[in-house]
Amino acid sequence: MKKIKTAKGRKASSTRWIERQLNDPYVTRAQKDGYRSRAAYKLLEMDEKYKFLKAGMSVVDLGAAPGGWCQVALQKGCKHVVAIDLLPVDELVGMTFMQQDFMDEDAPQKLKDALGGKADVVMSDMAHNTTGHKYTDHLKIMALVEAGYDFACEILKQDGAFLAKTFQGGAESDLLARIKIDFKTVRHIKPPASRADSSEKYLLATGFRKQQNDS
Ligand SMILES: C[S@@+](CC[C@H](N)C(=O)[O-])C[C@H]1O[C@@H](n2cnc3c(N)ncnc32)[C@H](O)[C@@H]1O
Repeated sequence: MKKIKTAKGRKASSTRWIERQLNDPYVTRAQKDGYRSRAAYKLLEMDEKYKFLKAGMSVVDLGAAPGGWCQVALQKGCKHVVAIDLLPVDELVGMTFMQQDFMDEDAPQKLKDALGGKADVVMSDMAHNTTGHKYTDHLKIMALVEAGYDFACEILKQDGAFLAKTFQGGAESDLLARIKIDFKTVRHIKPPASRADSSEKYLLATGFRKQQNDS
């Protein structure tokens, strides 16, 4: 186990984070395999099992920095990935990136314009910085999941897929009820690369039923 000395001015939580990174086999693997994040393995593992990313697809990646999921989608042969994040991301070939808050009023339309058509997959790994106040954090997380979901319903093709990071047991019952009507299959997944001590889970909804007023 690699330990580091506590530097003056560095918080104990930062020291713990650095130690965890140094001892995390997925971090080492990501560096070796050329992935920008260990999160890339979560998407690889979920896609390995459920095969929702395919060659030629158009994909939207919400909360994309530093770009690990974009790398995976493009490696799988997806033809266009439109991505957004609050933080900067270096663009890859086949990717269009917008540095903006997804919750901004004009962000969904900008993403639609950048994609120029319907999407096969909308995936969201968005996570806000936690406040430590459980209820506030829960509301913030759910707001991101719901906004991502509303956007997915507007942009997805028939049979498209929606993947979103959730916490604490998954989507809330109201939203889950909606998702079960809009999609043929809904799953909550904890990929092996997701840290066991995190309440993070992913919601994967596949087989989008095209909405009646869609063209
Ligand atoms: C876990 S990271 C994503 C990692 C990414 N999937 C990868 O493989 O590299 C979560 C990201 O969500 C972004 N995020 C959180 N809230 C956001 C928002 N409202 N709009 C855009 N991005 C947001 C954060 O800036 C952060 O970069």
